[in-house]
Amino acid sequence: KPSKTYDIELIPGDGIGTEVVKAVMPLVRTVADQHGFEFETTRRDWGTEYYLNHGEMMPGDGLDRLTDADSIFLGAVGHPDVPDHVTLHGLLLPIRKGFDQYVCKRPNVLFEGIESPLRGYESGDIDFVVYRENTEGEYADLGGREHRGLAHETAIQSALFTRRGTERIIRAAFEAAAERERHLTSITKSNAQAYSMVFWDDIVAEVSEEYPGVTVERLLVDAASMDLIRRPHEFDVLVASNLFGDILTDIGAQITGSMGLAPSGNIHPGDEYPSMFEPVHGSAPDIVGKGVANPLATVLSWSMLFEDLGETDAADALWDVVTDQLADDAAPRTPDLGGDANTQTVVGDLSSRL
Ligand code: NAI
Ligand code: MG
Repeated sequence: KPSKTYDIELIPGDGIGTEVVKAVMPLVRTVADQHGFEFETTRRDWGTEYYLNHGEMMPGDGLDRLTDADSIFLGAVGHPDVPDHVTLHGLLLPIRKGFDQYVCKRPNVLFEGIESPLRGYESGDIDFVVYRENTEGEYADLGGREHRGLAHETAIQSALFTRRGTERIIRAAFEAAAERERHLTSITKSNAQAYSMVFWDDIVAEVSEEYPGVTVERLLVDAASMDLIRRPHEFDVLVASNLFGDILTDIGAQITGSMGLAPSGNIHPGDEYPSMFEPVHGSAPDIVGKGVANPLATVLSWSMLFEDLGETDAADALWDVVTDQLADDAAPRTPDLGGDANTQTVVGDLSSRL
């Protein structure tokens, strides 16, 4: 049968983003080949170096160049020489918002062979997924600074919660819960934020009527931060605003072993725009250039990309090969997982297991 070819845009970005994106390409191409499809990649050298040369993180028509792709893969952005709000607002956030990638999906799984910093937890004990709202909320570009440099200098930062935006992320999370363990935890701070978060609670109550089989738990974000440490085994699907989801997924990455293992998808569920997949971690300036970045979060993110394209077998193959490697005591590991192997060695070992 004729093989299908997908167009994938690659944005390696900065720091270890470029290292891990490059390192895993032979592996993901092999897996695609084994499952009867191909992909063509267009590499975009956007990011901090581009910014230092051109004064912007990507060209003005950057989104137009990406828009016809089947999917986008991003490494990481961020550089010690440029303020983080410049890099984030110049590349990552415009893509998430411009392509209406409103579901930020972040699975948190404790793999066999990985030791959680939480005492007594073993593989399979932690397995939840966070649905983070990804286009508005606290990361809306709404605010300003007045009276700069004066004693009464003032900053205003507003959060945006629309009915459409809130409802669709909550509905996506209910859908996911209905297919998983039917347990949804909604994260808010409705005791203190009596407008946006009570609005969020109201919409959870409305949408929950469509999903009678899903039990709903409500947690304030501070309590959730505690409970992700205290009882992570009880969570199934969490739904949270942009800021709260961002914070909770870093906790999720730590309790399941390493930032180097956490994948994510910025998903536009319709057909209008491409989705974008990326490891949760940043550019890791502390280890850049040493060749020791853990590539597994990137491999798992490619698995999510394949899943999103409907290439489920290829997605499973990538996820399973990571699972196999982690479960094998004798397999090479990068230093963040207590080993002394480099990025290349870990990818090479994965390839040999296919
Ligand atoms: P980070 O995720 O880059 O690093 C945090 C810690 O985890 C560091 O000690 C790092 O060495 C370690 N780490 C991260 N990924 C790893 C991997 N694959 N293998 C082994 N160890 C790994 O977060 P940090 O240090 O807060 O931020 C560094 C830069 O990255 C900043 O400029 C920040 O703005 C940016 N950033 C970008 C993100 C993105 O592109 N989505 C997300 C988070 C941060
Ligand atoms: Mg984060």
